[in-house]
Amino acid sequence: MLPLLVREILAQKPGNQEVTIRGWVRTKREMKSLVFVEVNDGSSLAGIQCTFDLAAAGAGVKAVLAAVGTGASVEIRGRLAESPAPGQALEVLAEELRLVGEAPAEDAVSGADAGAAGRPKIPAYPLQKKRHSLEFLREIAHLRARTNTFGAVARLRSRMAFAIHQYFQQNGFQYVHTPIITASDAEGAGAMFQVTTLDLEGLAKSGKAPDYSKDFFGKRACLTVSGQLEAETYAAALSRVYTFGPTFRAENSNTTRHLAEFWMVEPEMAFAELEDNMALAEDFLKFIFRSALEDCAADLAFFDAHIERGIIDTLRQVVDSKFTHISYTDAVRELEKAAREKGFEFRPFWGCDLQSEHEKYLTEAAGGPVIVIDYPKEIKAFYMKLNGDGKTVRAMDVLVPRLGEIIGGSQREENLESLTGRMAELGMKPEDYSWYLDLRRYGTVPHSGFGLGFERLIQYITGMANIRDVIPYPRAVGQAEF
Ligand code: 4AD
Ligand code: MG
Repeated sequence: MLPLLVREILAQKPGNQEVTIRGWVRTKREMKSLVFVEVNDGSSLAGIQCTFDLAAAGAGVKAVLAAVGTGASVEIRGRLAESPAPGQALEVLAEELRLVGEAPAEDAVSGADAGAAGRPKIPAYPLQKKRHSLEFLREIAHLRARTNTFGAVARLRSRMAFAIHQYFQQNGFQYVHTPIITASDAEGAGAMFQVTTLDLEGLAKSGKAPDYSKDFFGKRACLTVSGQLEAETYAAALSRVYTFGPTFRAENSNTTRHLAEFWMVEPEMAFAELEDNMALAEDFLKFIFRSALEDCAADLAFFDAHIERGIIDTLRQVVDSKFTHISYTDAVRELEKAAREKGFEFRPFWGCDLQSEHEKYLTEAAGGPVIVIDYPKEIKAFYMKLNGDGKTVRAMDVLVPRLGEIIGGSQREENLESLTGRMAELGMKPEDYSWYLDLRRYGTVPHSGFGLGFERLIQYITGMANIRDVIPYPRAVGQAEF
């Protein structure tokens, strides 16, 4: 069996039983003859206090204790006891201490390298006990998971990914692994990263145009912007499916809510119309929020106290609320009215793409999540089902306060003629999508689905302002470190 983690030890009843703690030192404090070492192993926000009594400790333990500082990895053996200190129920009355790996508090010479030529210096451990800015922590993203904030984000991300699978598996959705490399532009927006093994430098030197028939896949290929089109084909066989994987967008948008690589959750349902899709999105989000409240209570309390006040109450309210539904046309009317009173940076008008300031206004006016439906076809993707008015499509965006769009989805056009007509209007070649059109040729059904940006979800739950702080290693314009 695996050794116990701090989270599991903290759940035990103290009875002087022997425990072993392995983790990284957060702080070391001395008081008279006592030394308190706070150890965190990332299994929970809370670390465990290990108390050494210098009066009882041997010379060996004292020597190691003197060398232990913030960031060092240690193994401590002792007995679990009730703690007299406020704010913690338990502590370890420590007996043995092993320094597994040091983390110098000042620029130091590495012990391992001592004597070697050049004697490289190890700079001081950058996460000394003090508050660090999120910008600074982004520069040391390989160490930031050792902070309270990023440990909490990582645990929440992990648990929410699990909750997503749980929700869909409980509701009859099959998990489909859609491809990451693709030759189709799922959104028809052209913001794709190309994947090639052609000798680009050689081609540039020779001045020749690339011949994609000689490329690895025999055609031009890219990283996917969405697994939707392939998910649709499986929904037309398995009824309910979802994909959950990385997606890529080469948009040049340097904002706090856009990444070039992000994770997307995309359910797709056969025999389902827009109303079913809206109901699914609402039920799904509430399930996820409930799971966050129940399963990540300590981490959420941390975010509430240190990142964004009130997020726990907000999540509770959302779980108990009914999402507001509004058509794009009505939303624009409201926005035009608001524009006369308060003014926006971008003037709203029928036909405009809703800007994030518009989305935020709508959610604040509604006091919670809003689902906007029936957008003009010009600002939405080619696959969305055309409404009877010939002008709008059965699109839906779920907007949340603070963030704006968290989900984008639609009922899909299941009629072959309407879909090919729309593609022709957009100058798309039907032969490039012939496999997709086959769904409409053989046993077509009304079907619907949506995409949830996983990082936007984590941003919403944690209150983290910048999307770069809710994914371990953010990829954005001009940024691919680590
Ligand atoms: O609205 P989008 O572009 O919709 C689709 O890709 C559809 N194919 C989904 C579907 O119907 N199956 O993206 C869906 C969601 C957005 O609402 C947003 O939450 C997130 O993905 N998203 C991004 N998240 C981070 N960085 C980006 N650059 C994002 N672009 C979209
Ligand atoms: Mg969208």
